[in-house]
Amino acid sequence: MAVKWGVIGAGGIADRRTIPEGIVPAHNAELVAVQDVAADRAEAVGQKYGIGAVYTSEYDLLGDPNVEAVYIATPTHLHHGQVMAAAEAGKHVLCEKPLALTLAQCEEMVEECASRNVKLGVNFMMRFHACHVALKHMVEEGKLGELVMGRAELTCWYPPIPGAFRQDPALGGGGAFIDMGNHCVDLLEQFFGRTVEVMCYTSNIVQDYPSEDTAVAMLKFANGAVGVVDALFNVPDAAGRAALEVYGSLGSVYSFGTIGQGSEGSLNVVIEEPGKAYDAAQVRSADEGKFVLTPEVVNIYRAHIEAFSQAVLDDSAPPVPGEDGIWSHKVIEACYESARTGKAVPVG
Ligand SMILES: NC(=O)c1ccc[n+]([C@@H]2O[C@H](COP(=O)([O-])OP(=O)(O)OC[C@H]3O[C@@H](n4cnc5c(N)ncnc54)[C@H](O)[C@@H]3O)[C@@H](O)[C@H]2O)c1
Repeated sequence: MAVKWGVIGAGGIADRRTIPEGIVPAHNAELVAVQDVAADRAEAVGQKYGIGAVYTSEYDLLGDPNVEAVYIATPTHLHHGQVMAAAEAGKHVLCEKPLALTLAQCEEMVEECASRNVKLGVNFMMRFHACHVALKHMVEEGKLGELVMGRAELTCWYPPIPGAFRQDPALGGGGAFIDMGNHCVDLLEQFFGRTVEVMCYTSNIVQDYPSEDTAVAMLKFANGAVGVVDALFNVPDAAGRAALEVYGSLGSVYSFGTIGQGSEGSLNVVIEEPGKAYDAAQVRSADEGKFVLTPEVVNIYRAHIEAFSQAVLDDSAPPVPGEDGIWSHKVIEACYESARTGKAVPVG
């Protein structure tokens, strides 16, 4: 059994990653229709994947009776209207992050999908990275002890581009933080649980556009642990470290290359036995307790498409439900409020 997918906004990340790495190879999904407002892109994507049902209007794709689920990968300001239209047409929806521009829109989308009895998911696909899954298991098994601090970083070089939605808060909802920082927040929350309070600084240091090119947030978690998220639009791609670090009372994990659109990477792990006495020399060089984990690679786009498709087939909850998009938005909004006011802001 395969879910029949249509793609709305097929010319960007859809064509780069989600269609070729996710929908096409997924064992329980089938690409049956594509749409893009740019006719040449729609045509090119249709040809590339051998799809005859090619549309330039999302309403035409949503009216196609062959389509059971849609993947929406358009600029952020379009998500709300397109998700609402998809729900009205009775199609299940996997929407790109961020779910929408405002919290009210996110809530309306979740309510509409629930009332139309269609599933809504948000594409926080980094949750499916084999290294992140392995790290989550380690945390749940208590291998790192009590978690105390984490850091997640995502950066890119993003110079001014005329019309780019991420560079105009009216179209993207903000800049580096809502675009890339939200993945980092979502990841840290997989290990630490939900954020209870934030402090955030945003600025525009290098790039000449209205959205922030620099955002650094501190997230306070329920047990008092602190997470740091840095999202930058102004550092060369090759200079970004995509750092993910998690520290606990029994050890730490540092990932290499796991944050981003790739599915490869590894975990550097240090774990000590409980009950270690104070060591005034604070030795860090010993190899004891150190190892590298390289779990078998699982493509993150394919894993999410398969999990969402299975939820449709089984009529079960989607793996990353719309409610998680609402929550993500609450954290993002709190961070932007903190950046504006210079104060710590509670979340929730
Ligand atoms: N999860 C990820 O890995 C990931 C990566 C990149 C982008 N994204 C998200 O995907 C979304 C799109 O980002 P992108 O980088 O692909 O943008 P993009 O600008 O590269 O591509 C967007 C596509 O949507 C099309 N489009 C614009 N208006 C449209 C409309 N009214 N109807 C249909 N198509 C329309 C454009 O022609 C273009 O082909 C954003 O929400 C972004 O945050 C997610």
